[in-house]
This record gives sequence, C-alpha cells and structure tokens, in this order.
Amino acid sequence: MMQTIIGETHHIGYLVKNIDKTLSLYQQLGFEFVTEKKYDEIRKSYLCFLKGKGECIELIEPTRESELCPLMKKYVNTPYHICYKVDNLQAAISKLKEIGFLIFKDIEKAPVISSHAEVAFLMHSRIGIIELVQGVE
Ligand code: NI
Repeated sequence: MMQTIIGETHHIGYLVKNIDKTLSLYQQLGFEFVTEKKYDEIRKSYLCFLKGKGECIELIEPTRESELCPLMKKYVNTPYHICYKVDNLQAAISKLKEIGFLIFKDIEKAPVISSHAEVAFLMHSRIGIIELVQGVE
C-alpha cells in the first residue's frame, strides 16, 4: 500500500472580504456552523467553519493588521488553500520539503480549530498553498 504523506481533508479555506455576508450565503445553501465566528488573535482575522454535506469550509476575513491582508490582492471571496490532517506535522513538513514544497508559514497554534491543534502552511508553484493540521481527530 502506498505511503501517503498527508491524510484526509480537514477544510477548504476561503479568503473573504465580509465574513458575515459570505456565511449568510452559505447558510442559505444549507451549511451549518462547525465553529461560529471567532477572532483569531494569532492571524488577526475573523474565522468560522461551516459544513454542508461535503467538505468543511473555513471562511477567513483578515483585519487590516493581518499578515494575510496582502493575499487579498490575489484571492478574494475564493478558496486559497486546502487543509489536510497529518499525524506528525514536523515529519510531514520534512517530506514535503524533499519534494519541493516551501514553508509559507511555519508551525503555529490554531485555537479556533481546537486548543491543541497546530497548523503549518506550505506552497508549491504547481499546487499553490496547502495547510497541514495536527491535533484534530
Ligand atoms: Ni485553513
């Protein structure tokens, strides 16, 4: 059996200009909160997680102070990363680096996901940005 570096999808991340307006639209599509809107102190952004029958969607509205702000020039009201679960964040990062991924944002806590979740962002020119999360079931 093939050894996979990354596990199941945890969520698809959207950068949005107005989280309330986008989440209200998703609610009209039948999506419900996994996690209600919260302020993420580390990312200086408002976040929420929604789920319909398929993948979990993360909406992120950066404030002016957020380091995510510059990404809004390229991605607005559109997906910009897929987050995958991993058992061992450090090991997965090492393997991804071996095949040409670069660290976009090194390991940090993700309190909106859970008190013990940690995430890292990597990028590759042929795939774009991916997020890895450790510490979720
Ligand atoms: Ni994410």
